Amino acid sequence: MDSTSLEWTPASWRDYPVAQNTTWPDAEHLARVERDLATKPPLVFAGEARRLQEQLAQASAGRAFLLQAGDCAESFHEGSADVIRDKLKVILQMAVALTYAAGVPVIKVGRIAGQFAKPRSDDSEVRDGVRLSAFRGHIVNSEEFTEAARRPDPERLLQAYHQSVSTLNLLRAFTTGGFAALSRVHAWNQEFVANSLEGKRYEVIADEIERALQFMKACGIDLLDDSALQSVDFYTSHEALVLPYEQALTRRDSLSGDWYDCSAHLLWIGDRTRQLNGAHVNFLRGVANPLGLKLGPSTTVDELRQLVDVLNPANTPGRLTLISRMGHERVSELLPPLVEALRDEGRSELWTCDPMHGNTFVASGGQKTRRFDDVISETSQFFLVHQALGTWPGGLHVELTGDDVTECLGGGSRLNETDLETNYTSICDPRLNATQSLDMAFHVAEYLQRYSTPIGERSL
Ligand code: PEP
Ligand code: CO
Repeated sequence: MDSTSLEWTPASWRDYPVAQNTTWPDAEHLARVERDLATKPPLVFAGEARRLQEQLAQASAGRAFLLQAGDCAESFHEGSADVIRDKLKVILQMAVALTYAAGVPVIKVGRIAGQFAKPRSDDSEVRDGVRLSAFRGHIVNSEEFTEAARRPDPERLLQAYHQSVSTLNLLRAFTTGGFAALSRVHAWNQEFVANSLEGKRYEVIADEIERALQFMKACGIDLLDDSALQSVDFYTSHEALVLPYEQALTRRDSLSGDWYDCSAHLLWIGDRTRQLNGAHVNFLRGVANPLGLKLGPSTTVDELRQLVDVLNPANTPGRLTLISRMGHERVSELLPPLVEALRDEGRSELWTCDPMHGNTFVASGGQKTRRFDDVISETSQFFLVHQALGTWPGGLHVELTGDDVTECLGGGSRLNETDLETNYTSICDPRLNATQSLDMAFHVAEYLQRYSTPIGERSL
């Protein structure tokens, strides 16, 4: 069946093949939970999603940069205020480094308050000859290697909703209640970061910002009066993978009459669920939220053309963000034909780089890891591709945490393979720690300065 021509409803995805599907053992239990979720208040509002889309439209015109960052998978055991605050701190620090060095507004979107579902390469996992269902994120099951832990439990959809509510509540307080005021730029530098080279580099910028604020104050400008200095726009996003959950949180906006998936501001389609006639593409084409689309090495030009036509039929700027994740070894070969094809058709999609998911490998100790240098290499090649084609390298998509974890190798913390066991807490993919994240931001700030002048300011 052609998923693009028939009338769309929030439930129409059910007529299409669902990649990465979960078989819930008790269908009636799942249905009860879906009905319950459908009566709950929305997490985000349509107007907020529209505002994000307007800002992303600015980015697609070369006038802003998207920073999308957070956990690979949020955990039901890590919803504390400290964890959320520290994640926000590092994202704010990265945004400051980028804005200050490159002079480009940074749109901040977290992989947070709903990033609980994981696509898996294999449906099952074998350990010591025992085969169990794969771990699919806390919204479905649990990571412990027992039959009971791996059984999908619909109650988890409700728990994901409630943890998202409390995370978002705190984020809203932090971003509007003074914590994110630019005058607190020093306070975002955590102690364990402050002593590193990157932390010190950040302090220099923070000092300069503070001096500039003092100067403005001395000139009689009321800093407290300026909302841009007192609060930040911070948006949420996650992979829209578990469609019963996404459908249950989809509401019709009374203002526009459009359907919005109110579980997050931006929803993305993963590299494993982007089949043109699959359920995920069918569901997301019908909601008016800004969308993301992951593009891995198997993406062909034809596939991409068809996907952008379906997901962004009116070529609306800000509607669709493309997230390239090709790996550092192949990005220079695989990305240019895709970018070129859309450029030549006058498409408005925003191009961003996920330098994490194409660069994962298993270390000798058995942990999944990534080399900071590979991550940087893919990012710099992404910028070079866009420079060569005259297109805007519009954003960065990274997995990170505010903690002092030891999950990725090298970078600001100079971690090696033996360090991996020290503090490896991710329940899925390895994340940059706060120092490595800051290191990354300084690299990207340099690329932004060196390779790309915003299109609007280019003299041709
Ligand atoms: C992810 O972003 O965590 C993920 C699974 O990505 P991808 O779909 O690109 O593999
Ligand atoms: Co991941």
